[in-house]
Amino acid sequence: MCGIVGYIGKRQALPIGLAGLETLEYRGYDSAGFAICNPGRVTLVKQVGYVQQLKDKIENQNIAGNLCILHTRWATHGTPNEVNAHPHHDCAGRVYLVHNGIIENYKELKNYLGQRGHAFISETDTEVMPHLIEELLKDENDFKTALFNALKMIEGTYAFAIINKEDPHTLYAARLSSPLVIGVGNEENFLASDPSALIESTRKVIYLKDGEVAEMTKDSIVITDLDQRPTPLKVEQLEWTLEQAQKGNFPHFMLKEIFEGPEVVKAAIQGRLKPREHLVKLGGLELAQKRLNAMRRLIILACGTSYYAGLVGEYIFEEIAGIPTEVHFASEFRYREEPFEPGTVALAISQSGETADTLAALRKAKKAGLLTLGLVNVVGSTIARETDAGVYNHAGPEIGVASTKAFLSQLTTLILMALYVSKKRGAFHTALMQELMEIPKKIQSILDASEQIQQLAATYATHSNFLFLGRRYNYPVALEGALKLKEISYIHAEGYGAGEMKHGPIAMVGPDFPTIAVVPSNSVSDKMYSNIQEIKARRGPMIAVATEGDEHISSLADHVLYIPKTLEPLEPLLSIVPLQLFAYYMGTKRGYNVDRPRNLAKSVTVE
Ligand code: G6P
Repeated sequence: MCGIVGYIGKRQALPIGLAGLETLEYRGYDSAGFAICNPGRVTLVKQVGYVQQLKDKIENQNIAGNLCILHTRWATHGTPNEVNAHPHHDCAGRVYLVHNGIIENYKELKNYLGQRGHAFISETDTEVMPHLIEELLKDENDFKTALFNALKMIEGTYAFAIINKEDPHTLYAARLSSPLVIGVGNEENFLASDPSALIESTRKVIYLKDGEVAEMTKDSIVITDLDQRPTPLKVEQLEWTLEQAQKGNFPHFMLKEIFEGPEVVKAAIQGRLKPREHLVKLGGLELAQKRLNAMRRLIILACGTSYYAGLVGEYIFEEIAGIPTEVHFASEFRYREEPFEPGTVALAISQSGETADTLAALRKAKKAGLLTLGLVNVVGSTIARETDAGVYNHAGPEIGVASTKAFLSQLTTLILMALYVSKKRGAFHTALMQELMEIPKKIQSILDASEQIQQLAATYATHSNFLFLGRRYNYPVALEGALKLKEISYIHAEGYGAGEMKHGPIAMVGPDFPTIAVVPSNSVSDKMYSNIQEIKARRGPMIAVATEGDEHISSLADHVLYIPKTLEPLEPLLSIVPLQLFAYYMGTKRGYNVDRPRNLAKSVTVE
């Protein structure tokens, strides 16, 4: 979704700001812009399309200044055009700002300000804010007071970066439910909505909290609450490396991240899994040990791919830990009237740690008095901070909009969490721990055979519909496989529980409607074989993801993608990999930019 970058310091601001903005391109956007301040003058440039087009627009122009705010916009209020792109400004051209989030009372404010002579040029909610500051400046000619008063008047969510033309040495920032992080430099300071934009410049960061406002010069950072009471600065160290945030030799981030599968599984288990001692150590959960011991039911809250990881988690927690588990779309959970029994624990799963619905669902669970846990990749993100206890993925930054490596990392960590909370310890648990150590090698062997998947994608690239089927642990894999294909290649794909297929989807099956069946050799493979036969009887083309050594499947399916044998709860860690690769090769074969799929955003920070 929208991205914010800001710079104040000793160097020319624009090249640094634009480089930061480019690192945020992965989040998904439709227009971009910046405002740069040179004493006495602000230059404003906006452009529909990519950051490169914004750069082309200013080619050969020397736009100087040491203070700059920049933005990528993912349209919510008003179509993607130059006027609606950020930054927005007041009538006099004194206040310039960029905004992530939604100002919910913008209509009332717009009416009020309109009556007081303010002229609006865009359809956005954001534009009310510079005008509101301008209006308040009429009574109180102090910029800071006007800014703080305006912040108190708006309702909704925001991350703002703000320039006052009359003070070219100060960059203001404010946050409420929309992330902002300050990068601390030497005679320069940075601002971004996502830490990945800062990696190239600094590792020292300060995460702004809700209701905080930052006043930054090149040499100082002052953070206060909305009543201007100072809050202490907590400088933290960014763990991510520059290499992790770059493509390296891969043509796309998505492919690089799929190939990072073995590494992210290793990173998730490293130092945590000790099969010889029959032990899983999760320091982040020890904080909540007493309440975890009393856990009787688990509810998992998530969106998108994290939700599908949660669905696998449901099977994992029930079988491994014996804990009744249910999974909710965070967007639905937040509006339910659900009674909670004592001993209910909520687990929010989120790669970014900033998804608006997951955060709202988590807050609801917290308000209801539940113990809240997080499974989050981005360290210091809002969900990570607001949960009572949790576990980090340590998967490194995920840049591809379609989540791949985070899914593998989430599955791995869910298994660790289930083993951690399980009061049972039998041969099954020991075997799981031992086998988990083998998973990275097994994923690697699937990746080594990726060429076969590339060829298969070439065969099927012109098809317009796909059905994905699976059972038990591989049912959510079918859903996630279908989601990947939709996201990346814009092909209609439906994921279904194979047993449900007869209750509707089979009506669509025919020679032009291929099915991908996720059918490893396990407790339900015989049932899957029957479902496959039902589809073959209707002349539906069949691709199977099956276990090496399964000879029966080759007589049923038109194409077989083999994965190594593993224990059933660990199968999704292998069976999803060919589906991720298939989606990737289908998308690239059809000529799409798989790292920036249309209309999608990496982190959905609006409801
Ligand atoms: C967006 C992304 C998905 C992601 C989902 C949940 O839709 O495009 O890839 O799975 O948000 O994001 P989260 O950061 O909460 O895991």
